[in-house]
Amino acid sequence: MSHSPSLPDRPTLDLDPDMSEEERLAALREHFIDVSQVHDELADQLEDARSRQSDLREEVSDLQEENEALKTSSLYIATVEELTDDQVLLKQHGNNQEVLTDVSPRLYQKLQAGDRVAINDSFAIQTVLDQETDARAQAMEISEKPEVRYEDIGGLEEQIQEVREAVEDPLTNPEKFQQVGIEPPSGVLLYGPPGTGKTMMAKAVANQTDATFIKMAGSELVQKFIGEGARLVRDLFELAAEREPAIIFIDEIDAIASKRTESKTSGDAEVQRTMMQLLSEMDGFDQRGDISIIAATNRFDMLDRAILRPGRFDRLIEVPEPDIEGRERILEIHTRKMNLAPELDLGAIAEDTEGFTGAELESLATESGMFAIRDGRTEVTETDFEDALEKVSREESPGKPIAFY
Ligand SMILES: Nc1ncnc2c1ncn2[C@@H]1O[C@H](COP(=O)(O)OP(=O)(O)OP(=O)(O)O)[C@@H](O)[C@H]1O
Ligand SMILES: [Mg+2]
Repeated sequence: MSHSPSLPDRPTLDLDPDMSEEERLAALREHFIDVSQVHDELADQLEDARSRQSDLREEVSDLQEENEALKTSSLYIATVEELTDDQVLLKQHGNNQEVLTDVSPRLYQKLQAGDRVAINDSFAIQTVLDQETDARAQAMEISEKPEVRYEDIGGLEEQIQEVREAVEDPLTNPEKFQQVGIEPPSGVLLYGPPGTGKTMMAKAVANQTDATFIKMAGSELVQKFIGEGARLVRDLFELAAEREPAIIFIDEIDAIASKRTESKTSGDAEVQRTMMQLLSEMDGFDQRGDISIIAATNRFDMLDRAILRPGRFDRLIEVPEPDIEGRERILEIHTRKMNLAPELDLGAIAEDTEGFTGAELESLATESGMFAIRDGRTEVTETDFEDALEKVSREESPGKPIAFY
């Protein structure tokens, strides 16, 4: 759909040198009229364009609202059972409850018996899940090649070494394990405070091995698709088998593998079912070598110990806050592209940033750059870092958020 109208021709003015004054004046008058017409025409076009722009703006804001609503509310999956005259009979997954719900004519047109839809708490259909964008695709992120490399990670040499041995070697050198006669670890669990590089490490491993990287966030799984968690876990392992060699990465695993709580709400039961499915997939996963599993959490304290049994996540790797050398390395990494003053000493900044995580150091570097820009400079100095540090610690007071892990 193209909206660009053709522009009116530009009027030309021919003034002959041997025209009389009157002739010239007449020509100029005519030209003036032509130009005025063109002006009016352009003004009309501009008016049209403005009104189209405002229509589009409205459309964008409607879509944004819709998008927000989709993001913020819990959605449930249901299947369309039957279309009556102007209503739809739905069957909710998970509890198999049947409900009759109203739909807009626009949506009614699109629906067919058997369609999978996402509904909200009041059974209003929010979106139709077509074959390609079914729950599987929505919850799992598959990337053939994550961007992160080992060089981008600062201060976690030992942890990287351990992850490589446990995840990469079984994929690239399975014979190493066969020769020695041991089973490679089943699953690797990375745990530590937020922003210390756990997700980065999982991505770097995937990058290094050419394996398909399948990422699933535990929280997505249980918040958005109640009634679907267990099925998604099954799908996840199936998908990995189809795409092997593959690395399954379950981020925020605490969301599906928390200690059993006393309350018996349906949400808890759902989380339980999802976790049981994960355990059974891992237990039935004896043919090792082409699929590796990594999980990460910053809530180690919350984890149900059942997932840590041998044969499940039996290799625990702590990813702590960086020490002074780690901090210096991380600062180097995140200032690689920055124009730093030659005398700036990142070692000194590393000294002053005890307790900072990688993510915090990254934002410190960015913040320092902002100070330089504000000051009209293109070079970032030690003072900028000091100012940024002061700003960050002011923002954080009275107390740093407590790290749970
Ligand atoms: N060790 C590190 N080296 C370099 N950059 C880091 C490091 N740790 C964190 N970062 C920076 O912080 C960002 C966030 O890190 P990451 O997502 O890996 O944290 P995480 O440990 O997974 O945190 P969470 O527990 O909140 O998921 C990274 O994209 C990176 O820019
Ligand atoms: Mg993470």
